[in-house]
Amino acid sequence: MVENPMRIAFCLCFILCHSFNVSASAPDENELFKDDYKDLFSTVPVGLHDRIKYNMRKSFDLDDDGCYIQPGEKESLVECGFNASVKTILIIHGWTMSGMFESWMHKLVTAVQRRESEANVLVVDWLSLASQLYPDAVNHTRRVGQSIATLLDWLQNEEHLRLEDVHMIGYSLGAHVAGYAGTFVDGIVGRITGLDPAGPMFEGAEEHKRLSPDDADFVDVLHTYTRGALGVSIGIQDPIGHIDIYPNGGDVQPGCSLGDVLSTAAAGNFVEVMKCEHERAVHLFVDSLMNKDHVSYAFQCTGPDRFKKGICLSCRKNRCNSIGYNAKKMRKRRSSKMYLKTRADTPFGGFHYQMKMHVFDRKNADDSDPTFYVKLHGSHDDSTDLSVDVVEGIGLNLTNTFLVFTEEDIGDLIKISLRWEGPSDSWSSVFKYVKASLWSLSSAQNQKVLEVRRIRVKAGETQKKFTFCAEQSEISPGQEITFVKCRDGWEVKPKKRLHF
Ligand SMILES: *[C@@H]1O[C@H](CO)[C@@H](O)[C@H](O)[C@H]1NC(C)=O
Ligand SMILES: *[C@@H]1O[C@H](CO)[C@@H](O)[C@H](O)[C@H]1NC(C)=O
Ligand SMILES: *[C@@H]1O[C@H](CO)[C@@H](O)[C@H](O)[C@H]1NC(C)=O
Repeated sequence: MVENPMRIAFCLCFILCHSFNVSASAPDENELFKDDYKDLFSTVPVGLHDRIKYNMRKSFDLDDDGCYIQPGEKESLVECGFNASVKTILIIHGWTMSGMFESWMHKLVTAVQRRESEANVLVVDWLSLASQLYPDAVNHTRRVGQSIATLLDWLQNEEHLRLEDVHMIGYSLGAHVAGYAGTFVDGIVGRITGLDPAGPMFEGAEEHKRLSPDDADFVDVLHTYTRGALGVSIGIQDPIGHIDIYPNGGDVQPGCSLGDVLSTAAAGNFVEVMKCEHERAVHLFVDSLMNKDHVSYAFQCTGPDRFKKGICLSCRKNRCNSIGYNAKKMRKRRSSKMYLKTRADTPFGGFHYQMKMHVFDRKNADDSDPTFYVKLHGSHDDSTDLSVDVVEGIGLNLTNTFLVFTEEDIGDLIKISLRWEGPSDSWSSVFKYVKASLWSLSSAQNQKVLEVRRIRVKAGETQKKFTFCAEQSEISPGQEITFVKCRDGWEVKPKKRLHF
């Protein structure tokens, strides 16, 4: 689906041009806000520490307030049950319109707690600084990062906290806050995960002014809303970590179209669409924490178009990785862009297949521009009809490579059906039968014929290769042919004479 540029411009303007921190019904807040603001930039930033809170989560009870760690006050560590010999996970929110935690925060905190029951889970609450004009909130990220670094340094000195046990997870602006924390801390933290790091005012910025690979031993980033206008998007487009994963190309997230959002959200509007795609990074991460047995893999590729062609399903030389919490540390000199497709809801993972088929033009098909569908038949289940999405159209007398994604776990692939959509398929059902018969009568003379002898398949998730052979290899519009598995692996190099 092509996004309306007006809509994106609207969303961006929404972020950059409006202030949401002060509600009209509370005029006093304006005054309060001004005073705090003055405080912030006075030589001694007294106000700042009060406005950044470290909330340690212990109970699963969301109504439980948790316990606040006061930097410099050792008793608060004891009181909160901070244990420096286990993992410490900091969760950092981003810019907010409401000045309150959004619902994703509870989901993420709960998922982290369930996965790492021993860990110290700290929510970095900088809400009062984040719910200001976007450029002002951006301006605070450095200070908030500095404050986190100060806390970590104190924990290193007081409690012998090991920085390699520290994992910061930052959403949107929070990702850049984590970057600053990583910059200022004395040493190098274990990991930073950026969940759709904010784009406006960070796109194209120098490394030290945004999250970057040198901020932690391992920096992994999920990009879910990189669609923009005039080079600006809500989520940053540039790769900024050791691995940068772009689910669904990093732009159109399934289940986030205006129609989908309207049907689920009471007050659905463009902002809901924007939130759905931006926040998808958080939900993918939560999914990776909760569904340990249903790991989603991403594959290194130079760009989304090559990935769509199915060219990039290799796992050799660290070219694939599990996404989210389960990502394995990977450091290359240049950041790796990785791609995957996902479902619209949790569990988000699915199954990727690369398919290659040589399409011979046998009769009258030179100008046919065929539309193909495949259906995969597996040992557990069958896929739905999946359209063969070839960017420049099916090439005749050529080998076509394409990507097929199934939401279902079909088990072992046994059989593939290939259907050529005939004109009859698109007619309304009332006239379908009549017209189809007329059409086949009239076109019997100049019937188009293509031939596909085999389909070579590589499964991304298992890295296994198979060859499927046609029982009857010629196909015409409106027909379907079937391929059964005829060998494990692919021929090394099909001999040229095999083509004719
Ligand atoms: C801290 O965690 C370690 C490792 O799980 C455990 O052995 C130790 O008892 C814990 N300390 C406290 C004070 O709970
Ligand atoms: C950020 O804050 C500094 C003061 O610390 C101020 O001089 C600068 O204008 C601010 N920038 C923006 C974009 O608000
Ligand atoms: C494909 O090859 C056949 C046989 O050589 C030829 O007749 C046909 O015109 C070719 N079609 C295209 C689209 O190149």
